[in-house]
Amino acid sequence: MRLRRRIKRGIVLKAPWEIELLRTANRIVAEVLTELCEKMAPGMTTLDLNLLAREGIEARGGKAAFEGYRGYPAALCVSVNSEVVHGIPSADRTLEAGDLVSLDIGVIYEGYYGDAAVSAVIGEPTAEQERLLKITEESLYKGIDKARPKGRLSDISHAIQAHVERAGFSVVRQFVGHGIGKALHEPPEIPNYGPPGQGPVLKPGMVLAIEPMVNAGGPEVKVLPDGWTAVTLDGSLSAHFEHSVVVTKSGPEILSRA
Ligand code: CO
Repeated sequence: MRLRRRIKRGIVLKAPWEIELLRTANRIVAEVLTELCEKMAPGMTTLDLNLLAREGIEARGGKAAFEGYRGYPAALCVSVNSEVVHGIPSADRTLEAGDLVSLDIGVIYEGYYGDAAVSAVIGEPTAEQERLLKITEESLYKGIDKARPKGRLSDISHAIQAHVERAGFSVVRQFVGHGIGKALHEPPEIPNYGPPGQGPVLKPGMVLAIEPMVNAGGPEVKVLPDGWTAVTLDGSLSAHFEHSVVVTKSGPEILSRA
């Protein structure tokens, strides 16, 4: 039977058949992100990347989930250098060697959502860029490692924050990760900071989009007048990695792995 159980705080536990659909949605996300990273090059505009993203999603039988979501105008979020998240693709934004680019994609497949993000530098990264990318991605995996039964939600948050701050970087507070399933954003919210041992107890069947946003400078961000693009207040570089993960009996399974 296609039953879904709703537990405390509105977190939906997904049935195996639903996880299968989430797996497909997230595989499309992962494949398209990989393709974009390979093709990304100096001279391309961020709108070129958006077209590639939409074509890649549709060629695999998915639908771009961000397009039209709360009025967002594109398939892809592409956030360059001091842009944190939700950068809108534009024909006026040409990528150059040395740009730190964060790519975030959402897909709907048969009513189920996939969501993931990666960051990379075009050409040769500086030592600082490389360290920011490494720490941010590592913090994502430290968080994912806490996505296991009987753990608490904020164990994920705390693991991310500890790793980031140990390196002298800061986590963005204004945006958080989220549950994902038949909606792009479901409960619970997943902050990338906080003390461990709080929030809901994690259970098999929970599907979580964990997404640290890490600034090289201070944690403050502001949203530009376009209503979407979030940038660091101090102009420092920012990186973003995200995976959609299912909590299983034996631990976390990353659905959006390439
Ligand atoms: Co997300």
